[in-house]
Amino acid sequence: MSPVIRLETELPGPKSKAINARRAAAIPKAVANQSGIALTHADNALLTDVDGNRLIDFAGGIGVMNVGHRNPALVEAVKSQLDHLTHACFAVSSYESYVALAERLNRLTPGTHEKRTLLVNTGAEGIENAVKIARHATGRPAIVAFEHAFHGRTNLTMALTAKPMPYKKGFGPFAPEVYRVPFSYCYRCQSAGGKTCCQASAAYWERIFAGLVDPTEVAAIVIEPQLGEGGFVPADPGALTALAAFARQHGILFIADEIQTGFGRTGKMFACDHYGLVPDLIVTAKSLAGGLPLAAVTGRAEIMDHVHVGGLGGTYGGNPLACAAAIAVIDVMERDQVLARGQAVAATLRARFEALAGRYQFVGDVRGLGAMLALEIVTDRTSKAPDKARTTRIQAEALKRGLIILTCGTYANVLRVLVPLTVEAAVLAEGLDVLDAAFSAASG
Ligand SMILES: Cc1ncc(COP(=O)(O)O)c(C=O)c1O
Repeated sequence: MSPVIRLETELPGPKSKAINARRAAAIPKAVANQSGIALTHADNALLTDVDGNRLIDFAGGIGVMNVGHRNPALVEAVKSQLDHLTHACFAVSSYESYVALAERLNRLTPGTHEKRTLLVNTGAEGIENAVKIARHATGRPAIVAFEHAFHGRTNLTMALTAKPMPYKKGFGPFAPEVYRVPFSYCYRCQSAGGKTCCQASAAYWERIFAGLVDPTEVAAIVIEPQLGEGGFVPADPGALTALAAFARQHGILFIADEIQTGFGRTGKMFACDHYGLVPDLIVTAKSLAGGLPLAAVTGRAEIMDHVHVGGLGGTYGGNPLACAAAIAVIDVMERDQVLARGQAVAATLRARFEALAGRYQFVGDVRGLGAMLALEIVTDRTSKAPDKARTTRIQAEALKRGLIILTCGTYANVLRVLVPLTVEAAVLAEGLDVLDAAFSAASG
C-alpha cells in the first residue's frame, strides 16, 4: 500500500508561508499558529494544504472531529439545511431541529432523570451558562474549580482555568468567587506511593473545604473528568466518587465539563460513564457538531427550569445549521458504531505508546481513557522533571514528516492524540509510524 502522507514541499510550503505573511499583517499574533500550514480541504483524518501536501491529522481541530472531517452524513445534513433555514434566533421563533437535538441529548447524557438542554455557541459559553444556572438554582455565589483545569477564555472561564500562560497573564482582574482545589494528578502527587489516591475519602474533601470556602456558599463544582489542556489526566475514580458524595451531602451541584471528553473520545459516550457519575449539569461542545460551532448545557429539569424567562439565550445559540450537524453526528455515532471504532483506535494507540515507553526512558507516563491518550515526557523517570523542550522537538519532527499532533499540560510536556475515531486502520498505523520516527529523531 502506498503511503498516505504526500509531501510536495518542506512544511510549511511556500504558499502556506505566503498566507502566514498576510496573516501576520492582518491578524493579531496572539492567535497561535501551531502548524504554520494553510489548509484547503480535509477528509476524515487527512488534511491537504495549499502547497498540495497531504498530512495525517492527530489533532482533529482540537478534539472536534470524532466522526472525521467532513463526515458525508454531516455534509449532507448541513447542505440540506442550507436550502431551508439558516437562522431564526430561537428566542424569536422555534425550529424542530433545536428541539430534536435537545431531546437526543437529554436521552444520551448520563442519568435517567428528566432533563432540559440549552444550546449555545462555544464551550466557554456553555460553561458560563452552566455557572449562571447553578448560581440561580442554588442562590449561592461560589464555584469550585481544579488545578490544571481549562474551561475557556472568556472572563469567567479564565477565572476557572488554572494555567496563567498563555490563558490568563495580563488579562485580569478575573471573576470573583472562584476557589481552586487539587486535581487527582497521581503521577505528580507528593504523597504518591500508596495504592489509594489521597483524595479518595470524604475526610479529604472536608479538610480541603474547611480551609477554603464554606460548602453552604458553593453553588457548583466544575470538573473535567479527564483533564484536556491540563495534561490528559483522568480523575482518580475514588477521588471523583468521594467528591461527588461530598457535593451531594452539601447541596453543591456537580458540573461535568465534557467539552473535550464527550462523544466517544474516551471509549464511552461521555467520560462520566467510566465513573458511574451522574452530574447535575453536563456541558458538551467540540465533537458535538463535528466542526460547526455549537455547545450544549444539559441538566436536571428542576435546575434548568429555575431560571426566569429570557434569562438564558443568545442570537446564534443552537443555529439551525449547527443543530443539523449535531443530529447527523449522533446518527453517525449510532449507525457506524463509532464507540466500538474508537475503542479499537484506543487499543492500537495504547499498544504503540507502551512500546515507546519501553524504548525511551524519557516517556514518564502513558495515560488516558479510551482514545484520549497521551504520553508525558520527562527528563528522567526518577526526577520526573517535565521536558518541554523534547516534547516540542518530537512535535516538530512529526510535523516535518507530515503528522500534526498536539501537546498539552501545565508544563507543556504532554503529547496528546485527538485523531478522528473513524480513522482508517492504515492511516492510523502510518501516523504512528511517523510518531515513532519523530521519537527516534528527537531521542539524541
Ligand atoms: C475541557 C474544555 N472546556 C472548555 C473549553 C472551551 O471551549 P471553546 O474553545 O469552544 O470555548 C475547551 C476547549 O478547548 C475544553 O477543552
